[in-house]
Amino acid sequence: MPEFEPRRLLVTGGAGFIGGNFIRHMLAAHPDVRIVNLDLLTYAGNLASLADVEATHGPRGDNRYHFLHGDIADFGRVAGALAAHGIDTVVHFAAESHVDRSILGPEPFVITNVLGTLRLLEACRQAWGDRGDVRFHHVSTDEVYGSLGPEGAFTEETAYDPSSPYSASKASSDHLVRAWHRTYGLPVTVTNCSNNYGPYQFPEKLIPLVILNCLEGKPLPVYGRGANVRDWLHVEDHCRAVDRVLRAGRVGTTYNVGGEGETPNLRIVEMICDRVDALGLTPAGVASCRGLITFVADRPGHDFRYAIDFRRIRSELGWAPAVDLAEGLGRTVEWYVAHRDWCAAVRSGEYRRYYEEQYGNRGIMSGDR
Ligand code: NAD
Ligand code: DAU
Repeated sequence: MPEFEPRRLLVTGGAGFIGGNFIRHMLAAHPDVRIVNLDLLTYAGNLASLADVEATHGPRGDNRYHFLHGDIADFGRVAGALAAHGIDTVVHFAAESHVDRSILGPEPFVITNVLGTLRLLEACRQAWGDRGDVRFHHVSTDEVYGSLGPEGAFTEETAYDPSSPYSASKASSDHLVRAWHRTYGLPVTVTNCSNNYGPYQFPEKLIPLVILNCLEGKPLPVYGRGANVRDWLHVEDHCRAVDRVLRAGRVGTTYNVGGEGETPNLRIVEMICDRVDALGLTPAGVASCRGLITFVADRPGHDFRYAIDFRRIRSELGWAPAVDLAEGLGRTVEWYVAHRDWCAAVRSGEYRRYYEEQYGNRGIMSGDR
């Protein structure tokens, strides 16, 4: 069977961590694709992450990349983009993504992850009708499956059992995507992946937070005793997996994506500490970064362990993770060391000024919640 050829993509959430890496991957790997990046630019969306992409592939470059400021929950905005750009493929990354924030304030998670996904699905259904030569790819998380004990791994058949407001909202969005396939015949695929790491991750997530705190000599907060296990997946491996599923995944099918990187949190933190020390960047006043480790109160409802059984994507589509965790983590530490300006900008709101410089102040932040 011939593979699907995505040509005109709408990537939602492309100014965020994984979406931005995916845009880079697709533009570099496939000279024929054109991409529209629809992003609301919440605190987690940073056009500074795509400045070189904009220069090379934007309207002043080869015109294969176009940024569109907007909300996935804005039906008219999405419908207009689908029509104006002749979109044949939607890759849906946009979401509120941080578990701790969802515990503090769940509502934006339901609005964007559930209602936003619903509106996006409806816009696609209405734009595409019963066309089969289109795709809606939904990027989801292993957290929908809940928590594992010391043994076993999530398969695509594992029952949904989400613990946090974030994972409950992602579970809801997965169900909506599947329902739009079964009920309306929308050609969808879904991936559920484990914890990503790599360049351009907002420094609220464990790995970039710990790297920056090491460099700044701040405490490294480890929830509970640091025994919780995550299966770390390099973002480049994840982007290759989504690309593969888009082209060759069976419509209506879910693929789990894992990194073969199961590691307890405390061990990840120690690996980062050792790398920063090895680079000669141990902050003044401590013998080693490990001295900054601080055990703090546990996250409520903290899932103990995630592990992914990715046999389906490996056997059907020939995908497997290629980046070794120690090597990928080392490269990630070096990336953050070399990109302190980006870190300062995304934490300070500087990127909003960058946006206005690039696009002019047209009230574009008014959609921000
Ligand atoms: P992120 O928080 O870095 O980026 C999210 C992006 O979505 C931001 O650019 C933000 O501005 C945008 N956005 C938020 N609300 C929007 C809205 N209403 N309309 C348009 N844009 C909006 O997230 P990420 O870590 O890159 O995650 C991307 C996707 O992958 C999410 O769906 C997440 O659930 C999923 N995922 C992430 C991981 C991970 O480890 N980071 C793992 C598994 C799955
Ligand atoms: O598993 C996929 C999920 O991975 C994605 O769906 C989410 O979008 C993404 O945020 C991530 O969720 P986690 O909660 O696992 O990631 P986080 O980086 O927040 O935390 C990783 C682990 O580290 C987790 O067990 C909690 C712990 N932790 C986290 C922070 C921020 C700490 O011990 N200290 C911290 O300061």
